[in-house]
Amino acid sequence: MENLRHPAEPFRIKSVEPIALLPRPERERVIREAKYNVFKIRAEDIYIDLLTDSGTGAMSIQQWAALMLGDESYAGARSFIRFEKVVKEITGKKHVIPVHQGRVAENIFFSSLLKKGDYVPNNTHFDTTRANASHKNGIPVDFPCPEAASDDEIPFKGNMDTHQLEHFIKEKGAEKIPVVFMTVTNNSSGGQPVSMANIKETSQICRKHGILFFFDCARYAENCYFIKKYEPGYENKSIKEIAQEMFSYADGALMSAKKDGLANMGGFIAVNDDELTRKMTELLIVIEGFFTYGGMSGRDIDAMATGLTEALNEDYLAYRVGQIEYFGKMIEQAGAPIIKPTGGHAIFIDAGRFLPHIPYHQFPAQSLTIELYREGGIRAVEIGSMMFGGIDPVTGEQLKASRELVRLAVPRRVFTASHLDYVADVIGRIAGRKEALKGYRLTRQATYLRHFTAELEEVADSGIKVK
Ligand code: F0G
Repeated sequence: MENLRHPAEPFRIKSVEPIALLPRPERERVIREAKYNVFKIRAEDIYIDLLTDSGTGAMSIQQWAALMLGDESYAGARSFIRFEKVVKEITGKKHVIPVHQGRVAENIFFSSLLKKGDYVPNNTHFDTTRANASHKNGIPVDFPCPEAASDDEIPFKGNMDTHQLEHFIKEKGAEKIPVVFMTVTNNSSGGQPVSMANIKETSQICRKHGILFFFDCARYAENCYFIKKYEPGYENKSIKEIAQEMFSYADGALMSAKKDGLANMGGFIAVNDDELTRKMTELLIVIEGFFTYGGMSGRDIDAMATGLTEALNEDYLAYRVGQIEYFGKMIEQAGAPIIKPTGGHAIFIDAGRFLPHIPYHQFPAQSLTIELYREGGIRAVEIGSMMFGGIDPVTGEQLKASRELVRLAVPRRVFTASHLDYVADVIGRIAGRKEALKGYRLTRQATYLRHFTAELEEVADSGIKVK
C-alpha cells in the first residue's frame, strides 16, 4: 500500500457538531422508508453527509464575527458596501448584483438576455444553469473538450472544446448566441479545472464574434489553485492575481457563493454592461429584493464577503485540493475505480465499472449509493441514468446516461482525515462483496429532475423489464 498523507488542516476546531452512526437495523429501516432515495433521509440519520459541497462548509471565527457586524438596513447597508468592494477587487467588474444563491443569478441573467431560440454554449452546463437557460427559452449546448471522456490522467479536463465552439458559432451565426459560458471548475465533468490558456482562447473567440463571455464561477478559487499548480507561468503568482487575470478575460460572472464563497447561503452577478445591469436590477427588485441585499440578510452578506477573501488563501486551497486527492487515492486503494485526476470538490466513483453485473436500467450508481448508506450511514449522490436517463417518450424505454457515477462531495473545512478514512473503509467492505449488490427499479418518478423525488424498489432477479 502506498504511504499516503493527508494535508494537515490549516485550522483547529473550536466548535463541534455531534454526528452518530445509527445501528444497522435502524439504517435498514431508514433507507427502506425513504424508498431507497437518499434525498428523503433526514440529515440526522446520516453519519457522513457527502451529498453536496454547496452551503455545507464550516465558517471561520472571522465569519462568525462578521455575522455580528451585519448591517440589516434595507438600502445601502454597510455589509453590502464591504461585499461589493471585495467582489469588485476580485472580478474587476463595474457592477455587483447580490442574489441569495446561484440559480437566481441564472434566472435573472437569462431572463434579461435571452430571446426565444437563442443558443447558450458552455464547457458543460450545471443542471440548474441548463434548466434556467431552457426555462427562459434558450437552448443550452455543451462543448466539453475531447479529453473529458478519456480515462487518462491529464490536467484541465474541464476545458471547452474551442474548435467545436467556433464551428458552432459559424454554423448558427453569432446573432443567435448572446453569451458563451465557462463553468469553473467544471462540476458536471468531474469537478475538473479549466486552464487559463483555454479561458483566454474562448474569450478571444467570443470577442472576435461580438459575443458576451461569462463565467459560472462557483468554484473559481479551486480552479485558480489548479492553474497555479499545473499551468506553466503561474507558479509564482498569488491566487488572487490568477483570479484577477481570469476574470479580466470575461464580461461578467454568475456565482453561487455557497461553494468558494465559503458561505451557507449567497451569490452574485458581476458585470460590466450598464444596460444589462439595469434590466437585471429591475427584475431583481421584483423577484429577489432591493439591489443592496438581493434576498439575503446583512449578516449573510458580511459572512460571504469574509468567506470570499478566505477562499483565496493558498494554505487553505492546498489543504482543500490535497484533501480531495488523498480521498481519491484512499477510495482507489479500497477497490473502487474513480474519475482521474481528482478534481476540486468531489470524488466520482465509476459505478458502471465497479458493478458491471448491474445493467444501466437498474441503476448501478444508485445501488452503490444505497449500499453506502446501509453499510456506513454515508450519503452520496447518484449521477447516472437515474438522474439523467429519463424515459424515452416514444419507446417507453429507460434512457442511458453517458456514465454511471456516484459523487462523494466534500464540504469545505468540515471533515477530517479520519472521516475520509472511514468512508474509504466502508467502500472497501462493499468492494469485498460487491457481486451481491442488486439493481433497482423505479416505482414512482416525476417528469423533471426525477432523482429528487423518485421512489425505488430492489430488483430481486436479473434481466427485469423496465417501466
Ligand atoms: N453552478 C454550478 C457549477 C453549481 O455547481 C451549482 C450548484 C450552481 C451553479 C447553482 O447554485 O445551488 O447556489 O443555486 N451546485 C450544487 C451541487 C447544488 O451540489 O453541485 P445554487
